Amino acid sequence: MIQGTKSLEGKTAIVTGSGRGIGRAIAENLHFQGAQVVIADIHFDNAKDTADALGVGALAVHADVSSADAVSRMIEATLNEFGGVDILVNNAGTDKAVPILEMEEAEWDRLMNINLKSVFLCTKAALPSMIERGGGSVISTSSIVARQGAMNGGIHYASTKSAIIGFTKTLARQMADQNIRANCIAPGVIDTDLIREHMPNDMRTKIEGSIPAKRLGKTAEIGSVVSFLASDAASYINGATIDINGGFWIG
Ligand SMILES: NC(=O)c1ccc[n+]([C@@H]2O[C@H](COP(=O)([O-])OP(=O)(O)OC[C@H]3O[C@@H](n4cnc5c(N)ncnc54)[C@H](O)[C@@H]3O)[C@@H](O)[C@H]2O)c1
Repeated sequence: MIQGTKSLEGKTAIVTGSGRGIGRAIAENLHFQGAQVVIADIHFDNAKDTADALGVGALAVHADVSSADAVSRMIEATLNEFGGVDILVNNAGTDKAVPILEMEEAEWDRLMNINLKSVFLCTKAALPSMIERGGGSVISTSSIVARQGAMNGGIHYASTKSAIIGFTKTLARQMADQNIRANCIAPGVIDTDLIREHMPNDMRTKIEGSIPAKRLGKTAEIGSVVSFLASDAASYINGATIDINGGFWIG
């Protein structure tokens, strides 16, 4: 159950990778808070399913966020439907647990494009509308692996999630004078299909036992933090990385 007041009335948000998982929960929370939401995903059926569930004020867009052309079409669709963009959530991402000695260059490049280049492409494409509207908020999804290294995921994955923090800190400095804030979230282990597909059951049980909260995170517990970061309640938070991990990593 989503709780809180409607803090994002009149705002338009794009959430990449929001056909399922964390992105979907982020889109649900932003929409609940009154924002119009663009559900962008490489799997259009899932994007449509999310948008249909939300109803009025939600638009499904088919986009591969690692492609500059697709990203421009995503922004164009947003401007056509809602007139601008105030909030960008760079959530789309994937992982593959390949040890470094077995990793091919093509696999390294693939993940860099999906997880990191996409953040650059989407942010650059969304900024002009935010500037025109007098401000905005960019929230990008890092990970606990940027804090402590990947236990199960790939070294390329951890590299992209660390780079997103540096990208965000620099973006925060570069855009503050345009009233545009940039922040990261760093989720711990959140119970999504990504985790179910990549993490063996025995490892899941071991990890659950090591988390002070004694459980994996829920997607809704990420959505609420993103809505807060997007809202005026977070107007003085810029360049931050917010850890959401049940105490699994404490800096
Ligand atoms: N689940 C976790 O424990 C966890 C922890 C830390 C960070 N994260 C990050 O959170 C984000 C969401 O993870 P999730 O667990 O919900 O994963 P997920 O696989 O359930 O969902 C990812 C979504 O992104 C979409 N996507 C993938 N590639 C895309 C592309 N090129 N263009 C557009 N959409 C694309 C997928 O279709 C999917 O809908 C990712 O960036 C992930 O790295 C997840």
